[in-house]
Amino acid sequence: MTAKARFPTRLVDKFGRVVSYVRISVTDRCDFRCVYCMDEDMTFLPRARILTLEELAFVGRAFSELGVRKIRITGGEPLVRNNVIKLFQDLGSLPGLEELVLTSNGSQLTKLAAPLRAAGVRRINISLDSLDPERFRRITRVGDLERVLAGIDAAQAAGFERIKLNTVILRNRNEDEVLPLVEFARERGLDLAFIEEMPLGVIGDHDRAEAYYSSDDIRADIERRYPLVPTTESTGGPSKYFRMPDSDVRIGFISPHSHNFCGDCNRVRLTAEGRLLLCLGQEHSVDLKHILRSHPGDMDRLKQAIVDSMDIKPHGHDFNLREQPLIFRHMSHTGG
Ligand code: GTP
Ligand code: 5AD
Ligand code: SF4
Repeated sequence: MTAKARFPTRLVDKFGRVVSYVRISVTDRCDFRCVYCMDEDMTFLPRARILTLEELAFVGRAFSELGVRKIRITGGEPLVRNNVIKLFQDLGSLPGLEELVLTSNGSQLTKLAAPLRAAGVRRINISLDSLDPERFRRITRVGDLERVLAGIDAAQAAGFERIKLNTVILRNRNEDEVLPLVEFARERGLDLAFIEEMPLGVIGDHDRAEAYYSSDDIRADIERRYPLVPTTESTGGPSKYFRMPDSDVRIGFISPHSHNFCGDCNRVRLTAEGRLLLCLGQEHSVDLKHILRSHPGDMDRLKQAIVDSMDIKPHGHDFNLREQPLIFRHMSHTGG
């Protein structure tokens, strides 16, 4: 690689989509076992196979120098990774980055919300599928609702610019919680996004086609009590937002099945193993770990691989809930 390699200041794929958002998974491990995300008995990656915090920071820098403006840290549960705050501090000081954000299950936030805010994290998305402790435990298999609610309190106290709750609604499991969750979000001043379950990895818990509850069903449930007004607001993710006339909170819908959003995809993701995945619902990828480990510190080589990867970003996903998943990675491997 020449010392004077010139790189573009933005990443553009062959469909003309600008990639300005990278989701970095820092671990495939999690202290929960949500039924739609993991099988009950999961095998996690050995530590040597996942990128070190230094390697992750190096990749983050490469992306920011290539025009990426938003980095979201995901997992598994990112906050179960040892010393992860150091990574937030390193990424938080990148000059080109406009937003450093996090997706978490909330279980570690009583301890980590304040240090995350201090490291420059602007917004947090916290998963919450039920307000009933028993049911919360059944959906997460092991999670403690009280602890997550305390984590949400801690996040609010730490002063993040916005906090969004993420809810996966499954028919016959928590579809009766749509309105209670909306009420909770309204009382607490939190945004709330409803996500349609995606067929990633084989799960033994339920039939995904039977559990499907569409964004339109959810919208109809909400509109029985609160009219929803569409907005053109965007957080740079796939969510389409609505507002209720008497409240500041936004209700979002992430609808990979019913309202495909691939046409304006602006993102790629790095798995904990260092695989750059060009689409959540496809296998097109580039092994950045191989480059990082065979040419340590070679920023130009890494950037060139990222620039070249844009040519294989697929047009979109092709999820089908009625067939066995085509993608065998679980969400926890990919980081959502
Ligand atoms: P903000 O818009 O920044 O608040 O975040 P986000 O909605 O992009 O991130 P979050 O981690 O909260 O993700 C919410 C859901 O959106 C998760 O279930 C993700 O898997 C899903 N999601 C994010 N990007 C994509 C995508 O490109 N394709 C699909 N199918 N789902 C996505
Ligand atoms: N389909 C849709 N959303 C999922 N999540 C995890 N697995 C799935 C799936 N199979 C959600 C989590 C979290 C976000 C990152 O992804 O609930 O909020
Ligand atoms: Fe853990 Fe999030 Fe998967 Fe639940 S959805 S098991 S909290 S990674």
